[in-house]
Amino acid sequence: MDYLLIEGARPLKGDIEISGSKNAALPMLMASILSKKISHFTNLPRLSDVDFALKILIELGGNVRMIREHNSISAYIEFDDKANCVAPYELVRKMRASISVLGPLLARYGKVKVSLPGGCAIGARPVDLHIMVMEKLGAKITIEDGYIIAEADKLKANDIVFPFVSVGATQAAMMTACVADGTSVIRNVSMEPETVELGNMLNSMGAKIEGLGTETLTIKGLNSKTLPGSDNPIHILPDRIEAGTYAIAAAATRGKVNIKNSIPKHLDILLYNLKESGVNILQTDNGFTVDATRLDNIKPIDIVTAPYPGFPTDLQAQWMAYMSVACGSCTITEKIFENRFIHIGELFRLGARVKHSANVATVYGVKKLTGAPVMATDLRASASLIIGALIAEGTTEIHRVYHIDRGYERIDEKLKNVGAKVTRLREV
Ligand code: UD1
Repeated sequence: MDYLLIEGARPLKGDIEISGSKNAALPMLMASILSKKISHFTNLPRLSDVDFALKILIELGGNVRMIREHNSISAYIEFDDKANCVAPYELVRKMRASISVLGPLLARYGKVKVSLPGGCAIGARPVDLHIMVMEKLGAKITIEDGYIIAEADKLKANDIVFPFVSVGATQAAMMTACVADGTSVIRNVSMEPETVELGNMLNSMGAKIEGLGTETLTIKGLNSKTLPGSDNPIHILPDRIEAGTYAIAAAATRGKVNIKNSIPKHLDILLYNLKESGVNILQTDNGFTVDATRLDNIKPIDIVTAPYPGFPTDLQAQWMAYMSVACGSCTITEKIFENRFIHIGELFRLGARVKHSANVATVYGVKKLTGAPVMATDLRASASLIIGALIAEGTTEIHRVYHIDRGYERIDEKLKNVGAKVTRLREV
C-alpha cells in the first residue's frame, strides 16, 4: 500500500492543470449503455474509479476499448442487444456509483439485478429514491438477498417530486425517463454541473430533456429501449472539486496558484468564501488564480453544505483544514451526509482544534499545525489531510492514499510541480 510523506509549511506556487471530472465521468460512462452507437469519451481522468467503471461495463458485456494518455484516458464503449444484467456486491460495494447502471440496464434489457451498495464511511447512503424512480416509471421492484431486482417490459412516463435533492436519483430518473413512453416532469432535481453535463450527453444522443440546470426537468421519452447515439466525442468537463481542493491548498499555504483548465462559475460559492477569508481571486482565460501571498490573517468563515449552487459537501473537509489555521473560530455545518466528520480525529493529530456535535463542527483556529502520521479514511477526508500536511511544520505521513487515488489524478506530481515536497512510498 502506498503512503505519502509531505514536508509542509511551503507556499504552493505555479500552475496546476485540472483533470476531467470524476463525478461527471462515472454516470456518463454508465449512460453509454443506452446508446445504439459506439460512445467515444475523451478527457476521462486517470483515476482508479474510472478504471473500475470501465471494468464494470466490461463485466456487464460492453465492448470497451481504452487509450491511456499521460493526463487523460479516451474510451470507446459499445453495448449490443445482449448484456449480462447483474452488478454483483463485490463491484457495487467497491464503488457506489455502480448503482447508476440500474436505470440504463433496465431501460435497454428489461430486467436487471444490482446489489444494494450498503453503507460507507460517510453515512448510510440509502438508495430508496433510486428505487422510487424505477417504480414510478413502471418497474416492478423486488429486494432479494441484498439485491435490487427491477423488471419492466416497457417504461412509462410519470411525474416525480423528490422530497430533497439527490444527485444520484436525479441522474437515474434522467437516464430512465428519456426512453420511457410519454413525458415525465421531475421536480426538485439536482442542478449540479455534473447532472447538467449528463443531460447534455443524453440530449446529444437523441434524448429530449428540457430544464437542465433548473429545479424542474421535462423529459419527453422516446418510447424506445435505446437512444440513437451520437458520432461526436463526449468530452468530460473539468473537475470542480479537484479545482476547489487545489484552490483551498493554495490559500492555506499562502501561495499563488493558477488553476488552469477549470470553470470558476462552477465554484462560485467557494471562491466567494475564499475572498471573504482574505484571498485574492482573479479570473483567467482558462480558469482562475488564487493569490494568498499577502494574506496575513485568515478570516474565519462559516459554511453550510448544500446541493449546488450551495457549498459542496465534497469540499467541506478541505475547508475545515484551511479554517484550522484561521484567526478565530467558525462553524462548519454538514447537511448532506450524517457522518462526514471522520477527518476531525486525524486533523486533531496535526494540531487542529475542532469540536463537533451532530452535524455542526466548530473550528478554533490555531497558529500552526505540526506534522504527524495520519490515516486517510475516505476520498475527501484524505484531501483535507493533504491540505493539513501542506500547512503543517515538519513531516506528515499519510497512510491509505488509495482513497485519494480514487479521485485525484497524479496528486503527488501536480503538487510537486507547484513546489510541494511530496514523496510517494510503499509500505513493506
Ligand atoms: C452526493 C452529493 C454530491 C457528491 C457525492 C459524493 C449532494 C446533493 N450530493 O451525491 O455532491 O459529489 O455525494 O460525495 O451534495 N439519499 C437518500 N436516498 C437516496 C439517495 C440519496 O436518502 O436514494 C440521501 C443521501 O443519503 C444524502 C442526500 O440524499 O443525504 C443526497 O445524496 P445524493 O445526492 O443522492 O448522493 P450522491 O449522488 O452520492
